[in-house]
Amino acid sequence: MRELGGTVYHAARGWLPHLLDELGDRDRLDGELVTVLGPRRKARWARNLWLEPLLIDFSSVGEAAKILRSIQRNWAACPNRLHRRTALIAEKLPPLPLKPKVFPFDIPEVPMGAFTLLDEGRMLASGVCSSPFANGEFEFEEDKEGPPSRAYRKLWEALVLTGTRPGPGDVCVDAGASPGGWTWALAGLGAQVTAIDRADLEPRIAALPNVKVLRHDAFTLKPEDFGPVDWLFSDVICYPPALLAWVEKWLASGLARNFVCTIKMQGADYDRATTDLFEAVPGSRVVHLWHNRHELTWIKVEGDRGLGSPPRD
Ligand SMILES: C[S@@+](CC[C@H](N)C(=O)[O-])C[C@H]1O[C@@H](n2cnc3c(N)ncnc32)[C@H](O)[C@@H]1O
Repeated sequence: MRELGGTVYHAARGWLPHLLDELGDRDRLDGELVTVLGPRRKARWARNLWLEPLLIDFSSVGEAAKILRSIQRNWAACPNRLHRRTALIAEKLPPLPLKPKVFPFDIPEVPMGAFTLLDEGRMLASGVCSSPFANGEFEFEEDKEGPPSRAYRKLWEALVLTGTRPGPGDVCVDAGASPGGWTWALAGLGAQVTAIDRADLEPRIAALPNVKVLRHDAFTLKPEDFGPVDWLFSDVICYPPALLAWVEKWLASGLARNFVCTIKMQGADYDRATTDLFEAVPGSRVVHLWHNRHELTWIKVEGDRGLGSPPRD
């Protein structure tokens, strides 16, 4: 067994090209796993980073499982080649908690490792990964009746990773709220929600007692029009600089305590320059959530546990 001295980046689902682009040169490519030796690089289009990769030689399935178990308990198989042999090793490891999760839930401080076979007798494995979920992947137990869209799942995911969330009476602004998935989720936590959109919200969401609707362009409203808010949310479809300009007004005003905003990429492009400006805001981070599509999530939340991101250098 030997340390590789680098990082393995597991690409976000469907976004390997963006990941390869942001990493630049690489040392290995195994399916969606990109290995870069040397210091860690900034990588947002990743679902999981293998932070302490090891090369492990083994002579049998049993020995492979034994070595992994001697490092720590939880291991996600990441099959790329030798699928059958990978599955046999996984069967000899403790079962993973893969059932859909009920929101809200707390993520325990238990490491989740990952491994892949390179050949019959050699694997790449890391006991320490950036995501607390197996291969960065998990599902919520969904509510098929309440929410008018499935977009609430990415909001739930962001809140689970921060380890905090709005509570009863918290004042929330939800920009780009239609048809109302995020507003439904926030209202369900007991928050007071001002939902802004140029389009209508689904009537039953607009009618919730703790929801107020503003049919308006969010970006022409100023922070002073609202006063202090506990949480500012945005899922507005727009060019990233338009969102940044609005967020900068909120930051300058000091009127919002917490932010969760989706940075939507337009067409096939990745606006890296604007994303860098978001991430340069002190106390914030940018992640690609499992429930994100061609978008990233900017999080600036007091007491953020930072789960799902590698430790800051
Ligand atoms: C992805 S949808 C939001 C989905 C919503 N978060 C949910 O959970 O149902 C994006 C929304 O942004 C709205 N939008 C686009 N530009 C806007 C603007 N300048 N001001 C307010 N809303 C805007 C669109 O009307 C659309 O409803």
